[in-house]
Amino acid sequence: ADYETLIVERRDRVTLVTLNRPQALNALNAQVLDDLLSVMAALDADPSQGCAVITGSPKAFAAGADIKEMQAQGFATMYGHDFFAGWDRFTRTRKPVIAAVAGYALGGGCELAMMCDFILAADTAKFGQPEIKLAVSPGMGGSQRLARAVGKAKAMEMCLTGRMIDADEAERAGLVSRVIPAADLVEEAVKTAAAIAAMAPLAVLANKEMVNMAFETGLAAGVQFERRLFHGLFGTADQSEGMAAFVEKRAGAWTGK
Ligand code: HXC
Repeated sequence: ADYETLIVERRDRVTLVTLNRPQALNALNAQVLDDLLSVMAALDADPSQGCAVITGSPKAFAAGADIKEMQAQGFATMYGHDFFAGWDRFTRTRKPVIAAVAGYALGGGCELAMMCDFILAADTAKFGQPEIKLAVSPGMGGSQRLARAVGKAKAMEMCLTGRMIDADEAERAGLVSRVIPAADLVEEAVKTAAAIAAMAPLAVLANKEMVNMAFETGLAAGVQFERRLFHGLFGTADQSEGMAAFVEKRAGAWTGK
């Protein structure tokens, strides 16, 4: 399929998605959201695909929501159309999505990266929530996800001042899982995604779902949810295969059942 704002490539079991609005530093407009939602629906529906990587350009992952699209809006249309609510659907993607961030991830760009399951950062990455400088605020979950990811102090400072943090500060704060030399970012992200896509598919879904529960419930409910899903995996053929393969010192051959 062709997308107006994205380049989509299949690298074996990995869907590599490149944001492609270079004239606007990949600012996220309604078309980007539509395109991303179609790619994510296709990913979930296609058993040949196991994981996605979303990346941008060397200069910008995404410099925010599209300011030119929002400029003329008022409260009635923003609230009436529940502007940005469509991004909730993005977060319901069931297969893992890795953000590979080089350059600017600002405003909605930082929020999109945080909606992915984890972030791999190039050493050139810069993260920030500069919306306050436009007299607005994060609107795609950024204040909530940033606070959960880096804690109140740093989230509050970033939202109130718009200060950007670099890749090392982001790694120290727990916002990103790893920092990678910029030249290797996309290949390393695809390699990481390929490793995930080679795991038993139902176990991948379950592991993603249970880690996400840590963000959405309290500890007791999350632990209970984890244990039930863990029990559920013992109803899969791949669990028998995985444990037999370990005992027989061979690689598992998954059926996704
Ligand atoms: C629309 C954008 C854009 C954006 C950049 N561009 N960011 N267009 N929306 N978020 C456009 C510029 O207008 C310019 O187009 C072109 O991309 C290149 O950008 P420059 O500013 O010339 O590049 P540079 O000088 O290198 O500066 C890079 C930058 C700066 C520091 C990233 O572009 C910047 O500050 N961007 C805005 C960052 C921001 O405030 N993001 C938050 C957005 S609000 P032309 O046509 O002039 O060449 C948001 C929150 C949503 O995301 C919730 C609120 C409701």
